[in-house]
Amino acid sequence: MFDSLPILPPDSILGLAAACRADPDPDKVDLTLGVYMDESGLCPVFEAVKQAQQSLVGEEQTKVYMPPQGDADYVSGICALVLGTATGKTLGDRVSAVQTPGGCGAVRLGAEVLFAAAPGATVWVSDPTWPVHIPLMGSVGLQFKTYRYYSPELRGLDFEAMLADLDSAAAGDVVLLHGCCHNPSGVDPSLAQWGALAELLAERHLLPMIDFAYQGMGAGLEEDAAGLRAILERVPEMIIAVSSSKNIGLYRERAGAVVFVGGDARAADAMTSQAIAAARRVYSMPPAHGALLAGRVLSSPELRASWQVELAQICERINGLRIDFRDALAATTGRNFDFIGKENGMFSFLGLSVEQAQRLRTEQSVYMLDSSRINVAGLNARNLPRVVDAVASVL
Ligand code: LMR
Repeated sequence: MFDSLPILPPDSILGLAAACRADPDPDKVDLTLGVYMDESGLCPVFEAVKQAQQSLVGEEQTKVYMPPQGDADYVSGICALVLGTATGKTLGDRVSAVQTPGGCGAVRLGAEVLFAAAPGATVWVSDPTWPVHIPLMGSVGLQFKTYRYYSPELRGLDFEAMLADLDSAAAGDVVLLHGCCHNPSGVDPSLAQWGALAELLAERHLLPMIDFAYQGMGAGLEEDAAGLRAILERVPEMIIAVSSSKNIGLYRERAGAVVFVGGDARAADAMTSQAIAAARRVYSMPPAHGALLAGRVLSSPELRASWQVELAQICERINGLRIDFRDALAATTGRNFDFIGKENGMFSFLGLSVEQAQRLRTEQSVYMLDSSRINVAGLNARNLPRVVDAVASVL
């Protein structure tokens, strides 16, 4: 049966991370995968997560299945984190959420619910978007169109083009937005632009689906949620895909949630019931460990305070790395890299060609994606000069 089954090429992101792991050069630099690395090059475990884990190991008495909707502390903690007090209060029982295996699981269950409600709807995705969005949502059966977003000429957001493209969407179409720290560009709308976007979505009856994988990694937990909350002031329905991989550092534990905002409580319940049924068709119920840890962190005042301090330090460090990298590149090449300092979160496009990005890998063991997307959070004081020299050498 499988004799002529094609062997697929590796994933465009995970394949390059694997290539870097296999590279014997002791000075190799991995800027591929969106993973936060500390100054020593390690992806750390939050202190609050370590404490939650110790208490969980001591207290856990069963490994019985999780309920289909997931851990109650985790799910309510995520809703509060994403929506904030004021928005959460306004929405009341129009909000409902389901724990998922990571942010991918959340995007997938969101897509399943969209397809159940409107199988003919078109999903508008940014050009470019995270490459996994299309297979993750497309395999449900949804169709896509792209809206212009990142302009290589502007080295930033082409907001007029974005609005013009979305203005041509049909009522009932879905607009996939990155809530903050756009992946792959790092370029986000300003608060005023979020407001204008909210107006357009409301006027044209477009449904926003927000991929919210990086809350707290851009400017802060509240600041990063401002765009999403501005939209919720104008639009009655929303689907939000949340990941706890980055901001709670639970990457391998696969903790995430899909948050549904319905026009009324019944609609929110219907969306949740559809998501639970879709999960049952594929993996039945969510994994426990990561969500139980995050649930403890979010619901304990002490652990939560410790987590927030550490997250704010991470955010500050990434923004500091952006400035150091920008200045070092400008000093070495004589070119303008100001855009790096204006972006948010982990990612930035260096503006190199595919050939230049490939040469950096093969000749210098500096690994970035073919698109020249780098993970800024993979830089540190030791490897930064090496990356700067390598980039300068291919420019
Ligand atoms: C990335 O874009 O590198 C991250 O979101 C990790 C992944 O799964 O691709």
